[in-house]
Amino acid sequence: MKRKRVGVLISGRGSNMAALVEAARDPAYPAEIVCVDSNKPDAAGLKFAQGRNISTHVIDHKNYKTREAFDAALNDYLQSQKLDLIACAGFMRVVTSLLLESWAGKMINIHPSLLPLYKGTHTHERALADGARIHGCSVHFVTAELDGGPVIAQAEIPVLPDDTPETLSARVLVEEHKLYPKALAMVARQTPSTL
Ligand code: GRF
Repeated sequence: MKRKRVGVLISGRGSNMAALVEAARDPAYPAEIVCVDSNKPDAAGLKFAQGRNISTHVIDHKNYKTREAFDAALNDYLQSQKLDLIACAGFMRVVTSLLLESWAGKMINIHPSLLPLYKGTHTHERALADGARIHGCSVHFVTAELDGGPVIAQAEIPVLPDDTPETLSARVLVEEHKLYPKALAMVARQTPSTL
């Protein structure tokens, strides 16, 4: 089967992107990471990708007056890369209808909670404040509802009595790095090649 061409969108550290890149080093992995785009020029993840000879690109949202104009530029870039799938990995922008429609069923995201619980930000703080005993992460399709698209895969961890947002976040992140490559592989195997 032809490997699917995947572009990754980041805004910062890029540790989930790095996990995808590592997984895709295996020639049997059903996807290849062909490019990494950031909306922040100083995103640390860009350096990692460059170090792996992956094409990187920056489309700085600050250079665009509206979300729609930013999304139009991003869509043009993503289309130019002839991608089969897009993986958002800590990409801190809400996408608009242009991107959603162009990439419906082809754009996925990782979120640090067991969706539908704790959509949005500060998921670990909110789980602890609620006294949650189980927490985790989800990979889902991106739709118009923020963090509300169909869930592809989830990983659970126990919340420990002395957990802080930092310790909980660190343990969830370990699971994210295992879950995202698995979920992307599942989606890639089921996606017909568009090329
Ligand atoms: C991860 O926790 C991810 O679930 C969330 O933002 C964080 C990004 O971390 N959407 P990284 O940039 O992948 O290291």
